[in-house]
Amino acid sequence: MEIRRPKISILGAGMTGSTTAHWCAAKELGDVVLFDIVEGMPQGKALDLFEAGPIEGFDVAVRGTNDLRDTAGSDLVIITAGMPRKPGMSRADLLSANYRIVKDLVLQSLEVSPDAFFIVLTNPVDVLTYVVKKVSGLPRHRVMGQAGVLDSTRYRTFLAEAIGVSVKDVHAMVLGGHGDAMVPLVPYANVNGIPITHFLSKERIDAIVERTRKGGGEIVNLLKTGSAYYAPGAALAEMAEAILKDRKRVLAVTTYLEGEYGLRDLCVGVPVVLGGGGIERVIELELSEEDRRALQVSVDEVRAQIAELPETL
Ligand code: APR
Repeated sequence: MEIRRPKISILGAGMTGSTTAHWCAAKELGDVVLFDIVEGMPQGKALDLFEAGPIEGFDVAVRGTNDLRDTAGSDLVIITAGMPRKPGMSRADLLSANYRIVKDLVLQSLEVSPDAFFIVLTNPVDVLTYVVKKVSGLPRHRVMGQAGVLDSTRYRTFLAEAIGVSVKDVHAMVLGGHGDAMVPLVPYANVNGIPITHFLSKERIDAIVERTRKGGGEIVNLLKTGSAYYAPGAALAEMAEAILKDRKRVLAVTTYLEGEYGLRDLCVGVPVVLGGGGIERVIELELSEEDRRALQVSVDEVRAQIAELPETL
């Protein structure tokens, strides 16, 4: 019997890509290939990480490459490649640049990894997940975006800190698009089953919801030259683990909707069961009137961005 480790390819070896590689290797999720267009950089980062193996005790291979053919036969492809927004660049310019990068990468990857699952991180993530779904023609269970796991971990961090309990006991999810209109759910947020309203006033909760919505911007304002990468990388590794170890985790995942929540033909974050079959099930929650309205605002934003794509899909 041949036993093979899963193969995880990370396209884009920048801050988030390399941090994701770190978390994936540390969790021994599989052999990792880091791909980037910058010569030498993915090779250098991969070798450096590989050399940490004896200390950390992970028995996985980590290698870097500038040749996409080295990603052949991947079980999972994670796309973090993209351009940051540069001064003078409009949001539409950025969308158009990242659209081309992601579209080309997914088409080339599919040729060498026809059976892979795809996770998109590059922003705007809801739109680019939609792009991958459309241009690949893959069924929706194999294409997803990472946003909700990150937004939810930020929400959980702030709740745990404010309540003064372990992060392990705080369960909470954020739905919708990955923008300031995202929807951190309050009615379902709990501390080991106890509603957060038992611990926090409405004002405190409102402030935490607002901070969660602006969580990405808070980090950008502090870093000044880049955006978050530790928590985004951890979020990607959590999704990778759910799939590669068939954990059947219940996570907020950017998903192509086919009528759920009254929505179709777009991708936004909803709770799903994530396991060996990828998105195995979409969980349709009953939403309060307030959350339903908030979700609609977020969905309208995502639809407006889809309309700005340089090509009709
Ligand atoms: N193929 C492969 N890699 C590419 C390509 C391409 N066509 N185009 C750009 N890249 C690489 C860059 O060389 C860079 O190493 O993508 C990497 C992006 O890394 P960073 O600039 O460090 O960005 P990071 O902070 O990791 O964020 C990645 O996530 O938050 C989103 O939209 C944001 O696009 C950004 C992405």
